[in-house]
Amino acid sequence: MAPVAILVYFYSMKIAFYSTQSYDKEYFSRYNPGYEINFLETSLREKTVKLITDETVVCVFVNDRLSAPVILALKEKGVKLIALRCAGYNNVDLAAATSAGISVVRVPAYSPHAVAEHAVAMIMTLNRKTHKAYNRVREGNFSLDRLIGFDLFGKTVGVIGMGKIGQVFAGIMSGFGCKVLVNDLFPNPDWEKQGWKIASLEEIFISADVISLHCPLTESTKHLVNKETISHMKPGVMLINTGRGALIDTGAVIEGLKTGQLGYLGIDVYEQEEHLFFRDLSENIIQDDQIMRLMSFPNVLITSHQAFFTDEALSEIARVTYENIQTFENGGMLSNAVSLSV
Ligand code: NAI
Repeated sequence: MAPVAILVYFYSMKIAFYSTQSYDKEYFSRYNPGYEINFLETSLREKTVKLITDETVVCVFVNDRLSAPVILALKEKGVKLIALRCAGYNNVDLAAATSAGISVVRVPAYSPHAVAEHAVAMIMTLNRKTHKAYNRVREGNFSLDRLIGFDLFGKTVGVIGMGKIGQVFAGIMSGFGCKVLVNDLFPNPDWEKQGWKIASLEEIFISADVISLHCPLTESTKHLVNKETISHMKPGVMLINTGRGALIDTGAVIEGLKTGQLGYLGIDVYEQEEHLFFRDLSENIIQDDQIMRLMSFPNVLITSHQAFFTDEALSEIARVTYENIQTFENGGMLSNAVSLSV
């Protein structure tokens, strides 16, 4: 039998992988087409750029901070590509990246279902208090006192941001028999065919029983939920935020919860999350008084940016991130570029 030549392709670009968690290592090792990766547990900050040796790609996540000084330092290190392993890119100074000649790619959609379904899980938990019932029953407390919820059927749900996630979420809520009001910068008349009503923000604030945020964090969406907008909302409204923390003004939300104007709050993202989330701080004294105050409310549910966290999403994130890096290395067209340096 003739000898068979086995060709193994080694990619020349090396990757500095910041904010590594155990699951990142697992999924990025499983799908690695042959890259050398420097897995770093620390997040990317000005003082951690020095950990880059000869890597020309940095792979980063939601709480890595790619400010102008960090990007300048990356340029000095010879970095050519910032590969975001997430959809949102509000943590990257795109102007700085463009002027540094560093390309930025992202994973625009890995599983809109993962995030939309998590938002629904938050609604169901806050409403039907399954988290409290679970603990009660385990302690032999079979009382139903204070576990009363409400039928979602027939309620009005407002969706702000009708991109990939917002649309999946709106579809699920239609399935519950809710009246769905949708808002987006670019409304699509086809949405009305789905039974969703295109509405202004004001209309959503005034009439929704549940409001779910699925728009990106931009200059115009920062603190979209604030003292003023909360005062327009239906008393006792349920607010769900799986978008980005700064979409809501935490101080105003705390006040809204104290007066009862906000009846429930479910957040998977938090404005100051970079100091807290993705870490085990159970033996630490947490210095963030706002999150401690939020945690003290019985009608608040906080998860630590886990809405994306499904097997399907992690696989897709790893696969698309590698695809982005390979395309860049091969000089191909970067379809997932956020800003092209060329
Ligand atoms: P997308 O880009 O498909 O959709 C965003 C939509 O928001 C677009 O239709 C856009 O027109 C709309 N929009 C932008 N500005 C708006 C404004 N001022 N008012 C109303 N609508 C506005 O994004 P996708 O994939 O649906 O994700 C949405 C957001 O969810 C991301 O930007 C990210 O911040 C967040 N996210 C959170 C995750 C988590 O694990 N918690 C995971 C993935 C994304």
